[in-house]
Amino acid sequence: MREREPFVLPDDFLFGTATAATQIEGGDTRSNWYHWARAGNTKDGAGPETACDHWIRWQEDLDLIAALNSHSYRLGLDWARMEPAPGVFDDAAFAHYREELKALREAGVEPLVTLYHFAHPQWFEEAGGWPRRGAGADWLRFVSRVLEVLGDLVTDWITINEPNVYLIFAHVFGEWPPGDRSILRFFRGARHMVRAHREAYTHIHADAVRRSTIARVGVAHHLRVFDPLRPLLRDRFACKVTSYLSQDFFLKNMTGVGGRWADFLGVNYYSRDMVRFTADPASGFGVRSVAAGAPVNDLGWEIYPEGLYRCIRSVYSRYRVPVYITENGTSDANDQFRIAYIYDHVRQIARLIADGIPVTRYYHWSLMDNFEWAEGNGPRFGLYNVDYGTQERRPRESARFYSELARERAVTRDMLETYLSY
Ligand code: FCB
Repeated sequence: MREREPFVLPDDFLFGTATAATQIEGGDTRSNWYHWARAGNTKDGAGPETACDHWIRWQEDLDLIAALNSHSYRLGLDWARMEPAPGVFDDAAFAHYREELKALREAGVEPLVTLYHFAHPQWFEEAGGWPRRGAGADWLRFVSRVLEVLGDLVTDWITINEPNVYLIFAHVFGEWPPGDRSILRFFRGARHMVRAHREAYTHIHADAVRRSTIARVGVAHHLRVFDPLRPLLRDRFACKVTSYLSQDFFLKNMTGVGGRWADFLGVNYYSRDMVRFTADPASGFGVRSVAAGAPVNDLGWEIYPEGLYRCIRSVYSRYRVPVYITENGTSDANDQFRIAYIYDHVRQIARLIADGIPVTRYYHWSLMDNFEWAEGNGPRFGLYNVDYGTQERRPRESARFYSELARERAVTRDMLETYLSY
């Protein structure tokens, strides 16, 4: 796999990009993230209130999506904006999403809609967030309304994005809202998210039957590779515990045997961690680090394409449902290694497909630079560069490469020469 060579993907493979409402829309002053950022909890002080101003500029952004030859686009809905008080829905916000979804479909871009992506209304936070009994019922009321108003425009759904990452940052590290470090509440939140996902899964399918259409429903799981730092039994044990608590538990309970609770496995893959044993149970017996001398992105995350192959082989052998790469990308302000990153990861997909594993979609994170949670506006994950002062979007070189990749469903020799001959 060292040498870069042309490769081809199947004719029905779908390429797209992914975003989340809070990270791009702007105008959000009702969510947990707005309040958290206002209280000074992001690195550069930025909050989601402006972001990419996509709420206003969505038509311009649809042109960017089309210019990438996207077959699909993964977008999120902003629950905080849509349900400003418990049980009170904002019809104008729903109408806005109707317009956006219709326009996507008219442009021939299949929407994949995320119903929960790290953000919720501040009233939900103040009532106790996901650890509270009744949290799932609140969210499911929102989901029902979404199905009623937008259900005719959407076939493909992600119920919850990265439940593991959300709960770990919110309740183990305490770096995300509500900044409440409590293992007990981590487990309560996990239990409620698992149940809420299963109910949403059932509900979305019942709704599709009623409409005589189909639905494809899954979770976007954040998966990493965990490798032992040293060839020691205790480091291997630490990997197992880390992996179970941070991903296998969620995969198992949100997918179910034979995909009972998921029609696809959504995989967000970015990196790997080396794990070293610690006797401290509060750290889950593992301390994570980056492999010595490994290539890293602007945030110091290891760039490890082989990990995508390893993760997916392992989860597919357990669950045997189709796999969508619902996120993969890198923070690279100068666009120095993004093209190689995309090539190297998508090539692993070609390898998985050659092994008979049905990986059917790839969503690059992200369409454009955006608000990166507690990191603020610093990291640059976009195929398009965003100037936050003027809101001008400019395609990076990697956007051109990606648009050709999506059009060809292949990397040709010409593309290698144009983009990767350095
Ligand atoms: C993932 C999140 C996404 C984005 C990327 C960089 O964990 O789902 O919102 O922040 O990381």
